[in-house]
Amino acid sequence: MISNAIEIRNITLKNRIAIPPMVCFHWTDDNGYVTEKNIRHYTDLARGGAGLIIVEATAITKRSRLHNTELGLWEDGQIEGFRKIADVIHENGAKAFIQLLHAGGNGIDTQADAPSSLKYRDSINGVEMSKARIDETREDFIQAALRAQRAGFDGVELHGCHGYLISCFFNKRTNKRTDEYGQDKALFAKEVLYAVKKACDDFIVGIRLGAFEPLLEDGMNHARSIAALADFLDVSYGGDCDAYAPGGFPCSPAVYGAMCIKKELPDMPVFGVHNINSREDAINALNTGIDIIDVGKASLVDPGFAGHIMNDEPYGQCLHCKNYCRWNPNEMANPDLKCPGRVKFQK
Ligand SMILES: Cc1cc2nc3c(=O)[nH]c(=O)nc-3n(C[C@H](O)[C@H](O)[C@H](O)COP(=O)(O)O)c2cc1C
Repeated sequence: MISNAIEIRNITLKNRIAIPPMVCFHWTDDNGYVTEKNIRHYTDLARGGAGLIIVEATAITKRSRLHNTELGLWEDGQIEGFRKIADVIHENGAKAFIQLLHAGGNGIDTQADAPSSLKYRDSINGVEMSKARIDETREDFIQAALRAQRAGFDGVELHGCHGYLISCFFNKRTNKRTDEYGQDKALFAKEVLYAVKKACDDFIVGIRLGAFEPLLEDGMNHARSIAALADFLDVSYGGDCDAYAPGGFPCSPAVYGAMCIKKELPDMPVFGVHNINSREDAINALNTGIDIIDVGKASLVDPGFAGHIMNDEPYGQCLHCKNYCRWNPNEMANPDLKCPGRVKFQK
């Protein structure tokens, strides 16, 4: 089951394992260009056997970054480095998507774009976007997607969850607008999906969507609303949200949300995520009916995790130490040999 191939529109993934986007802070500098370390990292991940690698959140403009050492695709000079990443992924038999991010009020811009004015953190004010600003931002997504296509990726994933800009438009707790973008909380995402698809001929365009945004019923409404425009839904958590799974459900709430969305949209390739950390977890998640499983931290611990669980070989496991690979811009992200799961595995 894990090793069954699957199609997403016109491409075939060789199995059901995807490596979800995971930023590597501090590996580049303020210019957002790909470094040798990034290329080595994606080479290791691609050699590990996953069918799909979704390259980390990549900023569509310098202002919209999450962190000042985040990769970007806001200028043409950045394409070459990403071409090397797409190439090493393809050379190792996987397909390559890249996640495009506008961090909104959860990034570094102190006067950040947001659906509605809102204080995000002490230093960050969300400033309600004018319609002209919304139009510019849609264009920024298009230009970044065109660069990703020129770099040789098979598709793009819009970052539409975890509280970043698109997620804030979806979420009624952060979108208080009274215009059409407030009346239809999915409108901004729909417009970006439509515009990117139209500009990038023959390119896969999907979205990472919060199943709980803020509630499951909202996430499901959003999924239905954008379904005709998206080639896949990579389902995760929303921003300010209430996530749950019924007692006894064998996987994470995010997988539960993905399962509910898949039931509603049987023809849509749906991904689920969170804590898939063993062969048994992988089988349980796929048994819910979702199409693809995202394996994040376990792939950082053991880049060969995908191949190992498919071949029933020993594998490294995330020990949930909440340390080395945690998403934490203030620390060196991603495990090196200090990761206890990796040390244990390698002994
Ligand atoms: C170091 C690190 C960086 C992450 N960066 C991103 C990112 O760029 N975009 C994103 O949508 N999620 C990001 N995430 C979340 C992961 O994609 C994934 O959803 C999460 O780790 C849960 O899956 P797991 O339990 O398999 O690790 C990151 C997680 C980690 C640990």
